[in-house]
Amino acid sequence: MALKIEPFNSKQHDRSTFECGVESLDRYLRKTANQDLKKKIATVFVLVDSPNDNIIAYYTLSSYTVEITELDNSLVKRLPRYPLLPATLLGRLAVDRNYRGQRLGELMLVDALRKSLVATEKVASIAVIAEAIDEKAVSFYRKYGFRSFTGNTMKLYMTMQSIKELCQSEGLLD
Ligand SMILES: CC(C)(COP(=O)(O)OP(=O)(O)OC[C@H]1O[C@@H](n2cnc3c(N)ncnc32)[C@H](O)[C@@H]1OP(=O)(O)O)[C@@H](O)C(=O)NCCC(=O)NCCS
Repeated sequence: MALKIEPFNSKQHDRSTFECGVESLDRYLRKTANQDLKKKIATVFVLVDSPNDNIIAYYTLSSYTVEITELDNSLVKRLPRYPLLPATLLGRLAVDRNYRGQRLGELMLVDALRKSLVATEKVASIAVIAEAIDEKAVSFYRKYGFRSFTGNTMKLYMTMQSIKELCQSEGLLD
């Protein structure tokens, strides 16, 4: 048995039993993820314990834009005054209830951040944005260096510079 994070494949991965405790996130995986993938709305990555194909956790990534006025002054100071800036959206992240507390949420988050950083070599992005589903999710993201948007604590960002530093400290970059 080996934990593997791989692109979601509806023909291979079993999503029927996935339950994270947030109905909208379960429904998304069952009903919408494959459509979003085909239409290039989002990429979907899943965690499996190979050779088992049942999904333990998943996350999605998309291109996104942020308004400069939503960002913290300390960050804005270092940016050109374009009204819209390129970013990466971590649209959803969830771990099955039966696998909670085993640092799998952390594993998925760090993998999503590393993939987002690597992708900036091809498509520029200043930060990863996450939309927290509740206050607990906000504190989960803050633990890893995310900061809330001005005027919206449920929407958070982590700059590519901070992600680079995190990945370097974890020895995740070549
Ligand atoms: C949030 C979630 C992804 C965390 O997954 P997990 O595998 O249980 O978490 P981990 O074992 O990787 O925990 C990593 C750290 O986050 C903390 N943490 C875990 N779940 C948390 C939560 N719901 N709220 C706040 N902190 C949390 C852990 O205590 C741990 O911190 P520590 O280093 O201080 O011990 C998972 O609980 C989940 O899927 N929740 C429902 C969906 C959700 O809220 N998604 C988040 C964004 S919308």
